[in-house]
Amino acid sequence: MPKHLLHTAAITAAVVLSAVLPTASAQETIHYSPATHVFRIDTPAVTYALGVNAQGDLQAIYWGAPIAPADPVPMPARHAEVASFDGPTTVTPFEYPGWGSVDYTEPALKITFPDGNRDLVLHYLSHTIAADNLKITMKDISRDVFVDLIYTVDPATGVIGRSSVITNRTKEPLTIEQAASATWNLPHGSDYTLRYLTGRWAGEDHLQTQKIAPGTTVLESRRGSTGHQNNPWFAIERGATPNPDEDSGEVWFGALAWSGNWRITVEKNQVEDIRVTGGYNPFDFAYPLAPGATLATPAFYAGYSGHGIGEASRILHRFELTQILPQKPAPRPRPVIYNSWEATEFAVDEPGQTALAEKAASIGVERFVMDDGWFGARNSDHAGLGDWYVNPQKFPHGLKPLIDKVHALHMDFGLWVEPEMVNPDSDLYRAHPDWVLNFTGRPRTQARNQLVLNLARPDVRAYVFGFLDKLLTENDIAFLKWDYNRNWAEPGWPALGPDSNQQKTVYVQYIRNLYSILAELRAKHPAVEIESCSGGGGRVDLGILGLTDEVWPSDNTDPFDRLSIQDGFSYAYSPGVMMAWVTDSPGWLNQRTTSLAYRFLSSMQGSLGVGANLNHWTDADFATAKDLIAAYKSVRETVQHGSLYRLISPRGFGETGGSENSATESVSPDRTQAVLFTFLHSSTMGYPYPQVYLKGLDPAKQYRIISIYGTLAKDTPETASGAYWMHHGLTPDLTGDFKAAAFKFEVR
Ligand code: DGJ
Repeated sequence: MPKHLLHTAAITAAVVLSAVLPTASAQETIHYSPATHVFRIDTPAVTYALGVNAQGDLQAIYWGAPIAPADPVPMPARHAEVASFDGPTTVTPFEYPGWGSVDYTEPALKITFPDGNRDLVLHYLSHTIAADNLKITMKDISRDVFVDLIYTVDPATGVIGRSSVITNRTKEPLTIEQAASATWNLPHGSDYTLRYLTGRWAGEDHLQTQKIAPGTTVLESRRGSTGHQNNPWFAIERGATPNPDEDSGEVWFGALAWSGNWRITVEKNQVEDIRVTGGYNPFDFAYPLAPGATLATPAFYAGYSGHGIGEASRILHRFELTQILPQKPAPRPRPVIYNSWEATEFAVDEPGQTALAEKAASIGVERFVMDDGWFGARNSDHAGLGDWYVNPQKFPHGLKPLIDKVHALHMDFGLWVEPEMVNPDSDLYRAHPDWVLNFTGRPRTQARNQLVLNLARPDVRAYVFGFLDKLLTENDIAFLKWDYNRNWAEPGWPALGPDSNQQKTVYVQYIRNLYSILAELRAKHPAVEIESCSGGGGRVDLGILGLTDEVWPSDNTDPFDRLSIQDGFSYAYSPGVMMAWVTDSPGWLNQRTTSLAYRFLSSMQGSLGVGANLNHWTDADFATAKDLIAAYKSVRETVQHGSLYRLISPRGFGETGGSENSATESVSPDRTQAVLFTFLHSSTMGYPYPQVYLKGLDPAKQYRIISIYGTLAKDTPETASGAYWMHHGLTPDLTGDFKAAAFKFEVR
């Protein structure tokens, strides 16, 4: 029997052997057997099975490596009672549990009816299958509450997207108190390890590892947006390994496509079943549903890797590039950008930006981005946010002269905006103090001297869309850096009246309006690209990535810190969306001094940008930058869209299991090019840099090694087979402190 059958031990013996699926053809991704009531999703990478049991519950059956269509899977059946305290409904792995009857695990849906009844028991009603999409409709056992479970399948990666649509067809309004996108049930087992990403401003994407013990681990944001603190991604690995095995072992992983309050719970229940439930955060949540109204939940994507967490990341990267990003399935490579922020902060003006643009163009930059400070009375972070007119002192002739100059230098032009915020010291706030999130008569807590506009309000949405549309219509702008520099406080919506449940719809409606503004802008200005920035990586998730082309992972641009931030980022997100700037040394955060080449190589692991003050550069700096930008352009397709291998992890430097070095490799989809980045923290005791073994090459092909920067041990051949580079490996010649080397490999 296949090893991933869920709960094989607990399934009632009488029904185990009978659910063979003889009619499933190899071409069908989604198949339903009327005889067994089993749905199967079969892709080359994964099989997922669920079914309807005799009572009408929808329950999970299998999730793991592909099995043959004709292989038997158990008939869906409620699991046997464990004790009077744990009846069948508390131990059966429901696919989308309503809170009702007897079930103590995390519900996917919880509803309160106007008569005080809070019991919701969802049973299968019907389904439709269309190409790679499955819709299963569930209904409460007595009330006209309908839930459509939506499954989308990407056959190439095996990633399944799940969401739900809840419809009130009763004659009375009801209130949804909790709505998840999906519950994912893992195969029964007691030896699972959870990995997830945590952080803070300027310290994002630390990979956490913990054995899954009985109880619940909660990953969430209550901040109104995705947050720096937890990212809506998880990976669960079979086996209790403190360090992830990049290449072997089974990994189930998922990511939620939502940029507002979210929650993912990872439960191990009393019978050691693992369930992952994710969607809207139920904290302070309510969504009143009038008769006939619906609530849709965001997509929760999940996949499976039988070859370690390295492959899990590569699956997600491929899925993001081909299925999520606005330019899917073949996003354009990210241009090399220059950004003015660290050079000038708010002191932007036409002569200063023109001088920087000339210097940026001379090193091969393709996009010049003017950051904060160009609008309103914006001379510091105390004023101006909300007043989106060009500052007449800084740009007396508007933006056109600067944009024309940037174009004449053969670059396109990008601009910073922070559309969702307002400084109290602004014309906008003086005119519309009621436009911000607030509770009547309560303080309005500022952060970075700003308040959050209530984007859920139709008038605020219209204002924000209007000024952005005007900006893009009147100026030749290729790129917006869309910033968002604080979290919510006092999230009231007084205009909706005293009904707190109505006001709580702000958590959903705000993000819907954010998404709809982005979608409408993109439709009207299809050439414009957008970066999601939130004081660094505070808004990085698959929801925003459906509408933006890249993200800013961190305000921390220290090239050494960035190695671990970028490493953490890469577990969930593609290097093709990871903007990384080369900035000044010593860096503003750690006062660490590093060479320009080290800074470049660190940033070249993602989408390269330059954020240094070019007015301070020497001729030698310009020459180094020009060479490395040219080298980057020769490998960027591979870095941004290739397969990433984490060869030596920088994680946990100074802790057990950590390494003082780090190395990554990217391989082009056709395996004709690979790029290797190696970083040394500090030489100790005269030890050489560890031997580096490449991965993912064609073993039979001959690859020539070409230095991008740095040298190799003397006996390194110039050309050797993929097998040689993977099994014999190579030693970069790195000694000292904060040194780096990079090489490309090309099929001869
Ligand atoms: C925060 C961003 O992350 C920075 O890059 C910069 O754009 C500042 N905001 C500007 O205020």
